[in-house]
Amino acid sequence: MVDLSTTYLGLKLKNPLVASASPLSEKVETVHQLEEAGIAAVVMYSLFEEQVIHESLELDHYLDYGTESFAEALTYFPNIGRYSIGSDVYIQHLSQVKKTVKIPIIGSLNGVSTGGWIDYARKIEDAGADALELNIYYLPFDPELSSTELEETYIQLVCNVKARIKIPLAVKISPFFTGMANVCRRLVEAGADGLVLFNRFYQPDFDLEELEIVPNLVLSTSQELRMPLRWIALLYGHVQADFALTTGIHTAEDVLKTMMAGANVAMMASELLKHGPGRVAEILAELEHWMTEHEYESIKQMQGSMSAQAMREPHALRRSNYIKVLNSFKYLP
Ligand SMILES: Cc1cc2nc3c(=O)[nH]c(=O)nc-3n(C[C@H](O)[C@H](O)[C@H](O)COP(=O)(O)O)c2cc1C
Repeated sequence: MVDLSTTYLGLKLKNPLVASASPLSEKVETVHQLEEAGIAAVVMYSLFEEQVIHESLELDHYLDYGTESFAEALTYFPNIGRYSIGSDVYIQHLSQVKKTVKIPIIGSLNGVSTGGWIDYARKIEDAGADALELNIYYLPFDPELSSTELEETYIQLVCNVKARIKIPLAVKISPFFTGMANVCRRLVEAGADGLVLFNRFYQPDFDLEELEIVPNLVLSTSQELRMPLRWIALLYGHVQADFALTTGIHTAEDVLKTMMAGANVAMMASELLKHGPGRVAEILAELEHWMTEHEYESIKQMQGSMSAQAMREPHALRRSNYIKVLNSFKYLP
């Protein structure tokens, strides 16, 4: 028997498979199915800053009927699906999920400003969450905003959220930072116990007939694993945090690579949304099979074995590999 156990944010997990924030946590029943299939933990879909603000604007509307800000807010926020549910419903749902399953449940907050909405961090803790994931999503479109200012906003937000909770905090970020390693180090110093790399951006498309912007969600492929894989391999041992890899994990091989890079857990959304919770059991069986064939006794044994720290030639993960990769391409007209 191989030992698949790992730890993440101080939680003892039976294996490294974690369901990433997505509609998979919308129904208690689906979370239960994920648990039955062997998932080690589930990250709840996010409660968005805009959701909380929208509610308070609605409240303002009743107090101050007819303001323009209310009309604008109505067009801004979609009145559909889970995003239109109240934040208290989110908290109740989390509490219900927590009561139904035994696996750890990680709450999720998604936003960027340091306003009153972050009080929901404590409400998530009070609802029984085992940890909190803070997804910071901001598109720096303003030419006056410098990267230093933006990074400072991130750091402040992490400090403020950390001050409100006792449970461990993970921070989910995008790959779009100039000084990625430096930002990661500072986020950890600000209080992040774990880093979730990377947030996946959904790029809007143009509808040429209607001349409208259309949201366009395309699920990931294993190809997209490479960027977070490389960064975790580079940061492992240099930034003192737990790592969760998100984006592009679809197979047992992807999970193995993720562990070898140095991640504590492998987070999955697209693969499970496409094939259902039962896919977890298949991946776990393939994982055990591969490890037995290759004489690995435990996940812990392989964690970080392909990181820059463990490699004899870590430059393969850095710039020098760039020319080698370009040279490896054979153009056959
Ligand atoms: C339909 C859908 C909804 C998602 N909702 C959230 C969310 O509420 N909060 C969040 O942090 N990430 C959300 N994500 C992002 C996933 O957690 C994950 O980071 C991303 O899909 C990349 O992983 P994957 O390649 O396994 O899909 C969502 C993804 C999908 C496909």
